[in-house]
Amino acid sequence: MEAILINGKEIAQKTRMDIAEEVKKLKENGNVPGLAVILVGNNHASRTYVNNKEKACKDLGMLSLLIELPESLHENDLLAKIKELNEDPTIHGILVQLPLPKQINEKKVIESISPEKDVDGFHPINIGRMMTGQETFLPCTPFGIMVMLKEMEIETEGKHVVIVGRSNIVGKPSGQLFLNENATVTYCHSRTKDLKFHTRQADILVSAVGIANFITADHVSDGAVVIDVGMNRDENGKLCGDVAFETVKQKAGYITPVPGGVGPMTITMLMYNTMKSAKNASMAQHV
Ligand code: GUN
Repeated sequence: MEAILINGKEIAQKTRMDIAEEVKKLKENGNVPGLAVILVGNNHASRTYVNNKEKACKDLGMLSLLIELPESLHENDLLAKIKELNEDPTIHGILVQLPLPKQINEKKVIESISPEKDVDGFHPINIGRMMTGQETFLPCTPFGIMVMLKEMEIETEGKHVVIVGRSNIVGKPSGQLFLNENATVTYCHSRTKDLKFHTRQADILVSAVGIANFITADHVSDGAVVIDVGMNRDENGKLCGDVAFETVKQKAGYITPVPGGVGPMTITMLMYNTMKSAKNASMAQHV
């Protein structure tokens, strides 16, 4: 039997309708949620992501401020810009698109963003809050995966989740969110021995590797839930994920497509976090 498609685009649209309701209420009270996106240099993929984020903001009636800075930028100038945005009451979310040019220390930049405006959920304070199960901004891609599974009514408690990839943006925080939901989590990565042995144990398999066709039918057990976080180009230049979709879908129980799977959810959760930050700020005004 063929896998059930997890339609991220549709779930994202539904979630955005709920966010739009909240934005409307905030705006009625004079609070327009505002997101500042900083793009340094001219990375083509980054520009596409940033454009999509801007469009999503506008569609939801939120303020979007795009700050484009040159590739040759000095770290101090970026830190000064972030300080200014930290202090700007019209801005509720600050996102610095990664990767940054090599003269700039990414960790230092992330740590300079106010944790209260860190809508990416990358600040160590927010990562610590996530790890200890406290209220915080959750990183957008892992958060989007959890929302998709909830919408599909896929149970996570007691399930074996195998994550392939250990990035700070996706792999590591995804595992943590599954753990928070009482799953059993295995992390695999480029040094894992006998990867297939591990991935075949998965009730839920998450691939965040960045290599086209990395996950084949051999890696997947019958009926598994397969979440593809990859954003790659195939040999014809077409957008594809990490998963060999056509063959894996014959074996999996559920599968996310690329495009139209995790990607739209990531942006949606960024909008959610920005709305939530604006809501937090508006509540702080009233105490
Ligand atoms: N680069 C790739 N993904 C992301 C993301 O989610 N946030 C930021 N800031 N940069 C990225």
